[in-house]
Formats: sequence, C-alpha cells, structure tokens
Amino acid sequence: MSVSRPRIIRTVRLPEEAEKRITASFDAPPPPSSPLSTEEVFRLAAETKAQAVLVTNSSPVRADDAALIPESVGLIATVSVGLDHLDVKAITDRGILISNTPDVLTDCNADLTMLLILAASRRMTEYTKIIRDGWKRGLGMDELLGIRVSGKTLGIVGMGRIGQAVARRARGFGMTVLYNNRRRLDPQKEQGATWFENLEDMLPQCDILTLHLPGGPESDSLINAATLSLLPRGAVFVNAARGRLVDEDALIEALTSGQIAAAGLDVFRNEPDPDPRLISLPNVFATPHIGSATRETRTDMGMLALDNVEAFVQGKPLLTPVTA
Ligand code: DGY
Repeated sequence: MSVSRPRIIRTVRLPEEAEKRITASFDAPPPPSSPLSTEEVFRLAAETKAQAVLVTNSSPVRADDAALIPESVGLIATVSVGLDHLDVKAITDRGILISNTPDVLTDCNADLTMLLILAASRRMTEYTKIIRDGWKRGLGMDELLGIRVSGKTLGIVGMGRIGQAVARRARGFGMTVLYNNRRRLDPQKEQGATWFENLEDMLPQCDILTLHLPGGPESDSLINAATLSLLPRGAVFVNAARGRLVDEDALIEALTSGQIAAAGLDVFRNEPDPDPRLISLPNVFATPHIGSATRETRTDMGMLALDNVEAFVQGKPLLTPVTA
C-alpha cells in the first residue's frame, strides 16, 4: 500500500470515471457489488486504516454509528447534497470532518422537478398504462384530460439553489412564481418571484406546489392534512426533496378525495419500498429517488467527493465542507 495514495472505503460503486480515478490514485478495496451496510463499512475502514469514507443515504451514520467510526477516519464524504442520513453533530463532535456534494446536482434535480410537474399534471401514469396495455380506442375530446402547466402559479417551498433553479425553468413555462422561505432573497435572485414569509399565506394561491427543503425534524410532515387543505381544490403537488416532509396518509386522502388532483413524487417516507397505497394511485406519477441520476451528475458528485478526500489528506480546506 503506497503511503501517498489516500486510503478510502466507498459504500457503493461510483460511476465509471470516478472508479477509474480511484483505481489510478487511491488505495481502496474493489467496489462493492451491493451497498455496504454502515457496520460493514466501518469494519472495512478499520481493517484498511482508511482515512476517508464515501457514503450515500444507503449507509446512514447516526449517533450510535458515529461512535463506531475507526480512529484512522478523518473525513466522511457523503456523495449527496442531503445530510439527513448523517448525525452531523455526533460525527463532528468526534473531530471528524464531513463534506457533501452541493451545486453539481442542482440542475438535474430541477429538471426532474419539471418532469414531475408535467407528468403529474398531464396524467402520464394513466396515459402510459393505456399505451403499454395496447392502445385500441381513441380517447374522446373530453376524456382523461390533464391540467395545463403553462401560465399557472407555482409555489416553491424552500428557495435555495434547487428552488431557484426550478423557478428559472418555471419562468420558461410562463408561470407565476411564489415562494416560501425563511428569508427573502435579494431581487437579483428573486427574479420577480413573490416571497411569502408564511407557508399558510402562500398555499391558497398555488396551482402547483413543489418542495425543495432539506429533511429533518423541523420540517417533518410540513405537508399534512391542514396544509393540503389550504391549497385550491385540484392543485398539483410535487416532491423531489425528502419523503419525510409529507404526511403520506394525508396525501393519500387528499389524492383520493380530489383535493389534490395529482402528485409527482420522487421521494417517500420509506425508501426503498414506499407505501403501496400511495404509488398505486392512478393520479400519482412516481420515480425511485433519481433526482441526481444522470451519468453526468453522478460522475460530478463522485468526482467532487474524491476532490474533498484529496484536499483533506493534503491538509487543505475541504471544497464543500459541512458544518454542524
Ligand atoms: C441528495 O443528493 O441528497 C439526493 O437526494 C440523493 O440522496
């Protein structure tokens, strides 16, 4: 084992270019064929005296797990922007650094959000089923009609990097953009969007609502029976952020009663294996948490995680540090 090559463990196989870089410049066991459990990863890290561990949300590091991180490990580099699988305080309290992968996935997540808005509004689950089952009869003029997206009012909850990228795209569809955020953005970032300090004040004005908040105890079930009831009847709901933001029982009820016309969902409270009552609804268009899942973006995420590892072992500041 060469001393100059950073010693790492990764919990998942990374995209090809990142794997090639690991082979060329890092000391690491071969990529796992399936995601390693948190226990396995720390056992391997102890055996190989790894300096850094690359994780994803498939190997959470909670407070109890943080106690198991071997002494050799000085950096947990998560290949994600989200941090809800990490107990940041418990890890940093042990003097271990954390990095994540913001920015590089903003565009792909915003692209997927637009896809979910369009697919839910335009009844893509039902149309795809007709085509796949063998399309034998033309649809009537008034049959299975969707909801026009262009020109509608979009409410964005959470106007960070991804929320702002969704707003840019929505403007291309001639949409009016409202947003709820703790702080008002400066006019250059706001680009004509209207700020609402209170979510409850914004909801009655939204034809379509999309969430772009981090997960965590403060935002758990932010979308619930009460908030759903404030939307205009027949609104469209989209979530490509985190499943825990939503009370899924309340969403199922709203989708069944017609309070919500359709939902586009990439994230669920239980992943994998989301609630079958939710994903089997014909007015739900669902994808399996693939906001960043393009070759380009996943490669960029892997490369950024490796850049952080290299910076760490060279004693340089992390490129994208996470602080408690
Ligand atoms: C992220 O980067 O946080 C994605 O949602 C994957 O977990």
